[in-house]
Amino acid sequence: MSRISSEEAVAAPFYVPVGNEVELFEQAWKHGLPVLLKGPTGCGKTRFVQYMADRLELPLYSVACHDDLSATDLVGRHLIGADGTWWQDGPLTRAVREGGICYLDEVVEARQDTTVVVHPLADDRRELYLERTGERLQAPPSFMLVVSYNPGYQNLLKGMKPSTRQRFVALRFDYPGEAVETDILIGEAGLDEPLARRLVSLGQALRRLEQHDLEEVASTRLLIFAGRLIRSGLDPRQACLASLAEPLSDDPATVAALMDIVDVHFG
Ligand SMILES: Nc1ncnc2c1ncn2[C@@H]1O[C@H](COP(=O)(O)OP(=O)(O)OP(=O)(O)O)[C@@H](O)[C@H]1O
Ligand SMILES: [Mg+2]
Repeated sequence: MSRISSEEAVAAPFYVPVGNEVELFEQAWKHGLPVLLKGPTGCGKTRFVQYMADRLELPLYSVACHDDLSATDLVGRHLIGADGTWWQDGPLTRAVREGGICYLDEVVEARQDTTVVVHPLADDRRELYLERTGERLQAPPSFMLVVSYNPGYQNLLKGMKPSTRQRFVALRFDYPGEAVETDILIGEAGLDEPLARRLVSLGQALRRLEQHDLEEVASTRLLIFAGRLIRSGLDPRQACLASLAEPLSDDPATVAALMDIVDVHFG
């Protein structure tokens, strides 16, 4: 769980808008609608939420969901201390009390019992019931629930029920086009424009490589890693091997095929 409030933030999170996602998110927030972000790994979902929380001046509670995450982890639990038993709010409860954003990352991974707390919050009731304490919280207007998932992981697709999906306004994220991705590499990895362009065109070429059975294609995140390594003086080919080819595949033949494309750009 992490909390980023506007007072604590040193600088606004760097985010280059890709389409109309900023306005859509803002309108959803104004209307009290929860938002679902879907898209492949490393395309900017988390960064976007950080940016929006900062922009709207809302505290942000992020939860990385996993298959053992229960409703109790979100809502809170009784703890035993020196002075007896006390109640500790979970991240969802804190976000509701403070009227902030609760961001459930990879929500389909969470245990099924989480839907019991998510559903009443994500529809027009906007309420959170703390079963253990009997408290019923009405979410203030500024509270917003944001969830994300990666539709590429097909085995998990079935995890999100229509009754959950249909409580959210959904925004599709994908890897940005050349111009935006170049700006991201310049801003995030501190590259000069020619190098940023070169890496972006390498990224595009890697994404076009279809004959190999890659689970996912090269993300903006990996291009940033490559850019940082090259910028700090590492040989570009070695940097691309370590930050683009090897993370994408364990199959030596596939890695070699990826490196052939790297050589076209950095050979
Ligand atoms: N539009 C953007 N503006 C600025 N930076 C971006 C943008 N998109 C991606 N990035 C960069 O890419 C990195 C990866 O993005 P992020 O962590 O938000 O991906 P994600 O979609 O949440 O991935 P995952 O599904 O794996 O959690 C960020 O740390 C950021 O540096
Ligand atoms: Mg993320």
